[in-house]
Amino acid sequence: MGFTRRDALRFGLLGASGLWSWGQGRNYALADSCDSHAMGEPPGPYINSRFSPEIPVFERPFEPMEVLASTSVGPDLDGYTITMKKNEVEILRDKKTPVWSYDGKLPGPLIRQRKNIGSVVRFKNELGTDDDGRDINSVIHLHGVASLPQYDGYAEDLIPPQHYKDYYYPNDKAAPFWYHDHAVEHTSRNVYMGLAGMYIVEYDHCDFFNPSDQELLPQGEYDIPLIIQDKRLTPDGELLFNDRRQRGVYGDVMLVNGVPWPRLAVKNRKYRFRVLNGGTSRTLSLGARVKHSDGSLEPVDLQVIASDSGLLSAPVTTDNLRIGIAERYEFVIDFADYAGKEVLLVNPIFFGNIDGNLATTQIMCFQVSGGAQDNPPLPERLGILTPIETLLSEVQGPPRTFRFDRLGSRWLINGKAWDPHRVDAFLEPCATEIWRFVATGGWVHPIHVHLGHFRLIGRSRTPIADYERGMKDTFFVNDFETVEMIGRFGPHEGKYMMHCHNLVHEDHDMMTQFQVGTDGCEPCAEPAKPLPAPANFDVPQCEPPDECMDGVPCE
Ligand code: C2O
Ligand code: CU
Repeated sequence: MGFTRRDALRFGLLGASGLWSWGQGRNYALADSCDSHAMGEPPGPYINSRFSPEIPVFERPFEPMEVLASTSVGPDLDGYTITMKKNEVEILRDKKTPVWSYDGKLPGPLIRQRKNIGSVVRFKNELGTDDDGRDINSVIHLHGVASLPQYDGYAEDLIPPQHYKDYYYPNDKAAPFWYHDHAVEHTSRNVYMGLAGMYIVEYDHCDFFNPSDQELLPQGEYDIPLIIQDKRLTPDGELLFNDRRQRGVYGDVMLVNGVPWPRLAVKNRKYRFRVLNGGTSRTLSLGARVKHSDGSLEPVDLQVIASDSGLLSAPVTTDNLRIGIAERYEFVIDFADYAGKEVLLVNPIFFGNIDGNLATTQIMCFQVSGGAQDNPPLPERLGILTPIETLLSEVQGPPRTFRFDRLGSRWLINGKAWDPHRVDAFLEPCATEIWRFVATGGWVHPIHVHLGHFRLIGRSRTPIADYERGMKDTFFVNDFETVEMIGRFGPHEGKYMMHCHNLVHEDHDMMTQFQVGTDGCEPCAEPAKPLPAPANFDVPQCEPPDECMDGVPCE
């Protein structure tokens, strides 16, 4: 059993300041090439809690996520069908890993959706029962999208096995979103077993400060979505789910799009990566390193261009990009100077995790070749963001405060556990509010607010990183830290969830709900229906109200 941060606290190894300094700016041993992986003991209170069988790193070829084809349901409506079912994938060579999947894939198929065209996604539940013979109920949440309440994946709005549900999405905002299971008390297990996938709403020229700049961003084969997940495997290749008495699930095998530590051949030009931390609990701190011929490693810049829910106003350069669970960033790596070399994507800092493991410091390897035809510069300006002053001027009431802490083995918000019959905040439709998230010590919490797109305006203990200044729906809260965000709660009315996205915390029971306005459908107003599904998609019963979103009208 791994030695954890909580154990460290119990044994008095760390004071608060000791906790705080963990991982701050430290870089640990890294692989020095695509072919080898250096191992050693991690520093500090971590132990190298390796459990999974050894897997050679940077051997397996990278696999792009398969794009799911749409059918045209109407002039302004695209349709998709996804079947949730058990399947087996190969993570360990020659061993079968059983997964619970969308369409049999780990991760699920990639949806690339045109902006401003609605979509309906039919999810069929053919998962059957778990090892204890209990039904595997599922709910699907499209994370980051402002959906109507009945299509938002409310935790209690379960699809039982042999049922389906048609979810409608507006796609009025472009960003790298993702879909995942949200079943009450079982989200961590279900997502860990494979129920997660990416859903990109494509930008159009209206999203750009200079509309013609869209073409400057890497596109087509140079635009690569990545889902990073940590898993733990038994010697037989089965996924091991250990939530350490509801503290977190930490793996020691890093999967990129379902492949452990892959290698990818790239040309000497810019590539754009749309990255999701799709794990259960592990915070990532990404960097890139080029390996020189003398074996030395040198940091390579990441140019961050977008956050959770849209383009940044300008590219932000960093060599340390923190991505908490459920956060997304888009960044560009320019391989122009590295033909003939290898560039590693690394995760060298254990910050925010109760489990350290050297295997997790490596993610993937790029082998750079020559021969790029072109390499346009990045635009100087990117998206159009509402000025914070404008948002501040709209705020009517005082900030709302939510405290995230632990009582016994439970995780609570303002001392309360999830209760679908209780609403903890009532908001005016389209209200602009400041929400304050307070973390008591010992744990970090990635806090996700449904419905809206928000902006980070304050951190009490650490500076706001420039890449956090764009549109966000998930906020990384350090231990002992207070984080403030601002945003408009719209366009829809109804009940929406807010919770910690460490999925184990969420399940037990760090989740609450707020209600916007008095209208809007009940979240369970359109329950799942029995299979077989009819040929036609169901028609939504509730119409969305008028818009109150950010952005500038665009011709
Ligand atoms: Cu990504 Cu409420 O979840
Ligand atoms: Cu949490």
